[in-house]
Amino acid sequence: MTRSVRFDPAGSLRGEYTPPADKSISHRAALFGAMCDEPVQVRNYLDSADTRATLAALLKLGAGVEEELGDSVLLRGVGLRAPLEATGGLLDVGNSGTLMRLLPGWLAGQPGGVWTLDGDDSIRRRPVDRVAEPLAAMGAGVEARDGRFPPLTVRGAPLAGIEYELPVASAQVKSCVLIAGMLADGSTTVRERTPSRDHTERILRRARVPFHRDGPRLTVSQVEELELDEIAVPGDPSSAAFVVAAATLVRGSRVVVKDVALNWTRTGFLRVAQRMGAVVVGDLEAPGAEADEEPVGELDVASAPLEGTVVEPDEVPAAIDELTLVALLGAFADGETVVRGAGELRFKESDRIAGVVEGLRGLGADIEATEDGFVVRGEGSPLPGGTIDARGDHRMAMLGAVAGLASSGGVEVIGMESAAVSYPRFERDLGALLKPE
Ligand code: S3P
Repeated sequence: MTRSVRFDPAGSLRGEYTPPADKSISHRAALFGAMCDEPVQVRNYLDSADTRATLAALLKLGAGVEEELGDSVLLRGVGLRAPLEATGGLLDVGNSGTLMRLLPGWLAGQPGGVWTLDGDDSIRRRPVDRVAEPLAAMGAGVEARDGRFPPLTVRGAPLAGIEYELPVASAQVKSCVLIAGMLADGSTTVRERTPSRDHTERILRRARVPFHRDGPRLTVSQVEELELDEIAVPGDPSSAAFVVAAATLVRGSRVVVKDVALNWTRTGFLRVAQRMGAVVVGDLEAPGAEADEEPVGELDVASAPLEGTVVEPDEVPAAIDELTLVALLGAFADGETVVRGAGELRFKESDRIAGVVEGLRGLGADIEATEDGFVVRGEGSPLPGGTIDARGDHRMAMLGAVAGLASSGGVEVIGMESAAVSYPRFERDLGALLKPE
């Protein structure tokens, strides 16, 4: 049911804040846990609609999933090549693009197995040819609706390693091919022109899979079994970004963000915000750092006046899920903010270029779409406010909420329930930071 919520101008945001667990890392922890022979404990597993879909799919494939107190999940895996149950079954990914793109990499290497992956209306509009193509080249049978969209049927087969150049910067496609590469004969190399989030690479190293990076070339070799210890999931920088944006825009704010993942492939938004004048103090991991563990840290954020900036295409992957927030900051900043080379935004949970342009325009912003991004002009003053439709997209719902707190007249968000896809606690967490004027 559609739930409309009004967010009134806030006095300030103050206090300590711990974001929910990282969505990307939670999906991977569960998936890799299910591929192990020995049980793997995942601490601080994200409790959200997307990550529940992953647990449900793994249960259907025969893995044991035991939820424990305190957000911990114990995965009793089936092994990398164990006969997977429910062959012929339908796997419901819900709204999750990550599950839709990563899971086929594993299924493709299970000879004799056939599975169909499907999901909600939003998933059915998102392309899967980007994973179907490399998996077919490795030897799997893959069929998508109109060759491009879900439902996606995967017929497992003995796979052969390939060398694959990613046509788009996508961590999901990269991860899918690397996962299939663990099951493929010989070695599999993925080339990525611009680095995207590297959580899969870190987990491969932790699982002692033969894997190395040589500049843009990532190579994985066939492996018999995975060895993983416990995984602790850090806080999600993409969820924290909404609070960082709110604390930046709402005058008088000061928020300390605790236990947040600071992997540099995820902190592009923070770097762009800093360039615009945001006061975000923290130890952002250096580019190229490649430890097995995910770096975790603290951010100290205070409100500040902002200036426009240009986000270039090579900055896009590390800020991909936060680019709509760059538009929001741009609407409050002085001068012009331009985002280029972000055509991928059109294939997210909704067309986020159309959504953010129409959404922010409805709140009084001077913003226009380009083919691969947007241009927004601000005068360093708050948006008047109004109504924004989340269009079933969790990140658009949360952006509307932040816009409301920072606006002069408040914002009504239509479809606030979609926040539960990644961040069910969002309204409560925000409420705890709000201080009256
Ligand atoms: C994700 C990768 C990104 C991102 C998505 C999560 C992941 O998608 O937008 O929210 O977990 O690998 P693409 O790989 O399509 O860029």
